[in-house]
Amino acid sequence: MEKAKYIWMDREMVEWDKAQVHILTHTLHYGNGVFEGTRAYQTNNGLAIFKLDEHLKRLYNSAKIVAIKPNISYDEVRNAHIDLLKINAFKGNVYLRPLIYLGYGVMGVHHVKAPVHTAIAAWEWGAYLGEDGLENGIKVKTSSIIRNSIKSNFGKAKAVANYLNSQMAKYEALECGYEEALLMDENGFVAEGSGECIFIVRDNKLISPPNDNSLESITQATIFELANDFGIEVIRRNITRDEIYIADEAFFTGTAAEVTPINSLDNRTIGHGKRGEITQKLQQAYFDVVFGKNEKYKKYLTYIT
Ligand SMILES: Cc1ncc(COP(=O)(O)O)c(C=O)c1O
Repeated sequence: MEKAKYIWMDREMVEWDKAQVHILTHTLHYGNGVFEGTRAYQTNNGLAIFKLDEHLKRLYNSAKIVAIKPNISYDEVRNAHIDLLKINAFKGNVYLRPLIYLGYGVMGVHHVKAPVHTAIAAWEWGAYLGEDGLENGIKVKTSSIIRNSIKSNFGKAKAVANYLNSQMAKYEALECGYEEALLMDENGFVAEGSGECIFIVRDNKLISPPNDNSLESITQATIFELANDFGIEVIRRNITRDEIYIADEAFFTGTAAEVTPINSLDNRTIGHGKRGEITQKLQQAYFDVVFGKNEKYKKYLTYIT
């Protein structure tokens, strides 16, 4: 990770190396916190944050779900994203990580008296699953770990605690020589990747599972709009892992992963084992949108001027 100059912490611009917390930070011990992963791209008109309000809405919704009362308003945190990008004067594309967390003050599981803090870090970051992955696709493994159960976790929240599940799935996949994990839900249907939603293509139709067992993905929503522009039919229904084996194409979507083709699942080659035609079309269209090359979707960009 490339260090930047400043991290925003509770209204202060703090030097990167000084952005520290106490060891008794509540979130560190009991795992209640919420965050976002947002990207900003270098467009022809300078750096622009993609879908800032969509990410902020999800951040504040996540806090509501896990019963954390944010200490700073939506508008202030929105402005802080912009100020942080300005002060750091980034030259490349940027990843932003806002985090609402519980700090030092009380110990014990009952969290409501713990002080709430908000921080935003930003740094220059390339392709999450590698440049080669964007072009040639990645090898994916069905995880032995199922997605967090909706009976005991909150899948609509981008909650810190949910990521133990993702972390263990990712660890297993990488240790086994794959590049990403695909998690099933507790009924055996496909849920999502460790940090991505999934799409398959069958007979020129796009299929993506409902968000019952996955995050309501902001990138997935963008792909639906783009597919609609191309006249590609989109179907939301459950899929099974063997349907992915026999799909014509498959790809992951996520703010970090962008649009990453999947070339195999559990050693079964998907389609021709390369980035498929529809995947490539949607990937190109996605990059056109985030880089401000599609007039229709400039509404999703917040320019840092
Ligand atoms: C578990 C999980 N699913 C899906 C996604 C994709 O969501 P988005 O497209 O909003 O980044 C992410 C990334 O944020 C994630 O962590």
